Amino acid sequence: MELNEIRDRARELSRGFCRVCPSCDGRACAGEIPGMGGAGTAASFKNNLAALAAYEFVTSLIHDVKRPELRTEVMGLSLSMPLMIAPVGGISFNLGGPVSESVYQRAVGEGAKAAGISCGTPDAAADGVFETGLTDAGKPLDHLIMPFVKPWEPELVKAKLELASRIGCKAAAMDLDSAGLATLRIMKRPCLPKGMREIREIADHAHAFGLKFAIKGLMTADDALRAADSGADGVIVSNHGGRVLDSMPGTAYVLPSVARALRGRAAVFCDGGVRSGGDILKMLALGADCVMAGRPFTIAAVGGGAEGVARLAASWRQELETSMIMTGTASVNDVPDAVLCRRGHWSTRGGTRDPAPPVPS
Ligand SMILES: Cc1cc2nc3c(=O)[nH]c(=O)nc-3n(C[C@H](O)[C@H](O)[C@H](O)COP(=O)(O)O)c2cc1C
Repeated sequence: MELNEIRDRARELSRGFCRVCPSCDGRACAGEIPGMGGAGTAASFKNNLAALAAYEFVTSLIHDVKRPELRTEVMGLSLSMPLMIAPVGGISFNLGGPVSESVYQRAVGEGAKAAGISCGTPDAAADGVFETGLTDAGKPLDHLIMPFVKPWEPELVKAKLELASRIGCKAAAMDLDSAGLATLRIMKRPCLPKGMREIREIADHAHAFGLKFAIKGLMTADDALRAADSGADGVIVSNHGGRVLDSMPGTAYVLPSVARALRGRAAVFCDGGVRSGGDILKMLALGADCVMAGRPFTIAAVGGGAEGVARLAASWRQELETSMIMTGTASVNDVPDAVLCRRGHWSTRGGTRDPAPPVPS
């Protein structure tokens, strides 16, 4: 199945809940939560794409990089390329029920398996969403997935981590930014942020269950350092695809300062607005060890099932490889920031290049 066929089918099935726009940039669906949109004006969603678009590639063509290395390992997960499918929950709630939660998660898991990548699985106020992800997406991947737990009460978090461990997972995460999620308020199950002592306890439980533990939704170097100091093994720079608070910066804009502050103390993930293999390379150059993408894979899974997910991943893989060859990047595990310049500021690679991308203080 071709990508345009997959997208056409997704558009038809989601009956206006997602318009499957030519560019998934938050403009058409602003404020649509429940739905696929960003909160309020969707500035946070739009800023994710704008922050990536603010960088351009600096090519290099006299080199020996003919077959770049795309494989990587992060948080104990072995990946054929540095990409994971982001957790997307409440498919029936947010997309008007074109497929069930279980069918969706299975498509994501099987598609990720075919592509040699992994996925996050969601948690929600509705009963069974966490378990559905664990089993339906988890099974095809031998449970080498990253289940996300919402910042619920400590006993519930502990029980969910224990379940993830029992089923065979090696890593888990918490989307701490769900504190801002309107859907949880609508379902009368809001969550709140957690202090360092609480995070430490959760990380300790995860480690006792044999799980590596990451925190998603952090947007500053200070929060990332607090997470690492509290025992987190990974930090996921994310604004939840713009769904938790209007008027946040794009993730690619804040990523360098987070990566620089952590200096390898925790794995760095980033998501938000990733729409191509080239965007993956940009995020790596800005400091990510691994990249996540949400909506494009939701559209692929709804329109093409597991085949759609694998097809999209294969297309991004090709684009990533091409971008690496064109910039002389030998390995995804060592991407210099010199492969990027700020839009309109062409650099000369190793010569008198323009200053590095500005980093917010
Ligand atoms: C409909 C929808 C549901 C989501 N559900 C979850 C969730 O359950 N847990 C979570 O951590 N993130 C969730 N996210 C956020 C994604 O994991 C990810 O951070 C975001 O989609 C990345 O932005 P992108 O869609 O531009 O790639 C959801 C996003 C959407 C659009």
